[in-house]
Amino acid sequence: MPSPTAATPPPAAVRSAEAIESLGIEPARLPRHIAIIMDGNGRWATAKGLTRSDGHREGAKTVRAVVTECARLGLDALTLYSFSTENWSRSPDEVNTLMGLYVEYLAAELPTMLDNNVRFRQIGRREGLPDEVLRRLDQATQATADNTGLTLVLAINYGARTEITDAVRALARQVRDGSLDPEAITADDIAAHLYTAGLPDPDLLIRTAGERRLSNYLLWQVSYAELCTVDACWPDFGVDELHAALRDFAARHRKFGKEQ
Ligand code: IPE
Ligand code: IPE
Ligand code: MG
Repeated sequence: MPSPTAATPPPAAVRSAEAIESLGIEPARLPRHIAIIMDGNGRWATAKGLTRSDGHREGAKTVRAVVTECARLGLDALTLYSFSTENWSRSPDEVNTLMGLYVEYLAAELPTMLDNNVRFRQIGRREGLPDEVLRRLDQATQATADNTGLTLVLAINYGARTEITDAVRALARQVRDGSLDPEAITADDIAAHLYTAGLPDPDLLIRTAGERRLSNYLLWQVSYAELCTVDACWPDFGVDELHAALRDFAARHRKFGKEQ
């Protein structure tokens, strides 16, 4: 086999190991899956005398930077909470801005996702989302389906209680049809019917803007995630803050119920 020339880039796994080590973290101590509650767009904007919509627009720039860095580091998955089932109770103006931003973001970022070998998927109920948002979500999902790098999961019209309700309904239908014995249902069966089926559970959950609550996010999946709250509002969160959270995570001792 010919030896690689100076112009041949090293394989992705080698590149990401170098990128991680340059942060002072052993690759084995990196999370496989990070979940983020992107909070504080509104507060960020209000503090600057801007509109909440300006805050969401600025927040989209942070998404771009964080996704690119997670792909570069070779993480398996990044799940971003972008719109909860409770966020429909905001003003129609704000909801419309957000829906418009999802359309814009998905269209603008598709080439970058393809360049970075990112596989896209959505979690949340489809019912209720505008057709144009659904069309862009489907387009990004299909166009990136064969990518093998970071899985980027956008939680949109997502609520963990709705997700668990949908899973219970699906299992109940199987019991009714006689294809499932209620006594045989396991935790794995429940996980397999959640929107996140097939993804590893998040190892690290980051919430910005200093809040310390879950707000109906991934209630089943974060059972053993390490929690990290960051004071910065989402538009002020960046690659440096992400690296700080990764270093914090790498220093944690995860016990999973064991004695040490
Ligand atoms: C997060 O920022 C974005 C969404 C929930 C859509 P917020 O809009 O919740 O910002 P704050 O919490 O009001 O500052
Ligand atoms: C959680 O943030 C939802 C998203 C980040 C999309 P919220 O701002 O809606 O949560 P609460 O209302 O502060 O709990
Ligand atoms: Mg908020």
